[in-house]
Amino acid sequence: MTHADLADAVLLRACRREPVPHTPVWFMRQAGRSLPEYRKVREGVAMLEACFRPDLVTEITLQPVRRYGVDAAIFFSDIVVPLKAVGVDLDIVPGVGPVVADPIRTPADLDRLPPLTADDVTTVAEGVRQVVGELGPTPLIGFAGAPFTLASYLVEGGPSRNHVRTKALMYGDEATWHALLDRLAGIAGEFLRVQVEAGASAVQLFDSWVGALPLADYRRYVLPHSARALSAVADLGVPRIHFGVGTGELLGAMGEAGAEVVGVDFRVPLDEAARRVGPGRALQGNLDPAAVFAPWPAVAERVRAVLAAADGLEGHVFNLGHGVLPETDPAVLQRVVDLVHASTAH
Ligand code: CP3
Repeated sequence: MTHADLADAVLLRACRREPVPHTPVWFMRQAGRSLPEYRKVREGVAMLEACFRPDLVTEITLQPVRRYGVDAAIFFSDIVVPLKAVGVDLDIVPGVGPVVADPIRTPADLDRLPPLTADDVTTVAEGVRQVVGELGPTPLIGFAGAPFTLASYLVEGGPSRNHVRTKALMYGDEATWHALLDRLAGIAGEFLRVQVEAGASAVQLFDSWVGALPLADYRRYVLPHSARALSAVADLGVPRIHFGVGTGELLGAMGEAGAEVVGVDFRVPLDEAARRVGPGRALQGNLDPAAVFAPWPAVAERVRAVLAAADGLEGHVFNLGHGVLPETDPAVLQRVVDLVHASTAH
């Protein structure tokens, strides 16, 4: 597969808002616990250990591509991998999520968060090269956690519903907040860069929890840092996707952060999202990940509704509005992929 063929991949064309032979589709969290073949290879291997083993990363990244024929692979890793790589004492606890031993809340704590260099993540780069070598014409999406979402884990010490300590720091000590987000923007940007330089064809910045903020606070405390993380790969010519959950009020501002594609959760229909984001951006989304548990005719109806709302958009990448839930039936996702491809082919 030559470089020119990959550059013409349907996903990349849609991200660039060029004409496509069909709407491309992939799923956030497509590699993971909904797949029996994933659970099998992960037996006895801790999540973070798996992320630093190129052989496992390659196998797991390829599993959903083989199974579903999706239009992109997403690199198997986690948003906390670069934090672990710079020395933060953390673990991913099954059923809980990332847990940080000593939370970061003061200027002195920032000493425990040095910048990331490519040398810290050589096994990640090796994993990307292996995956890309095996993927052929299917593009690989690299990713990083956005500064706000990473900060939430670091400041809270783990997953959080209300982000109370995060907001206490953000509103109460703005200088330390900006210093922390500046560090995280550097780490996220470098982590994206490493993946693209190793062969990833696109990147996604996950700001999963930023929907916890009102627009004015997003602009003041977050947007400049997310923009800086995205700008770290601006010169590399790959499409950048910028995604968050519960971000209906933030879509316009997120569109200003620099990414070519804005990811939309399931709460805002894509035609309305396009009005909020404005022209010059492709959209990604946005079938409710819980909707795939309904009987197939209802799922199909909702898939068609997403496609209808996307009709006339400059560029559309079909996805769920958030990650695949672990209990999801892979056979239903297969039918979703096939329906999107068949009903948009021309
Ligand atoms: O398929 C893919 O999308 C690629 C792999 C991927 C993982 N995490 C693997 C993973 C990606 C893109 C992520 C990103 C990630 N990690 C995000 C942003 C995306 C989102 O869902 O909003 C966030 C917030 C995290 C933090 C995190 N890591 C959580 C909340 C969890 C779940 C904890 C649990 O057990 O319920 C993890 C662990 C994790 N990351 C798993 C996987 C497959 C599950 C661990 C396992 O399989 O043992």
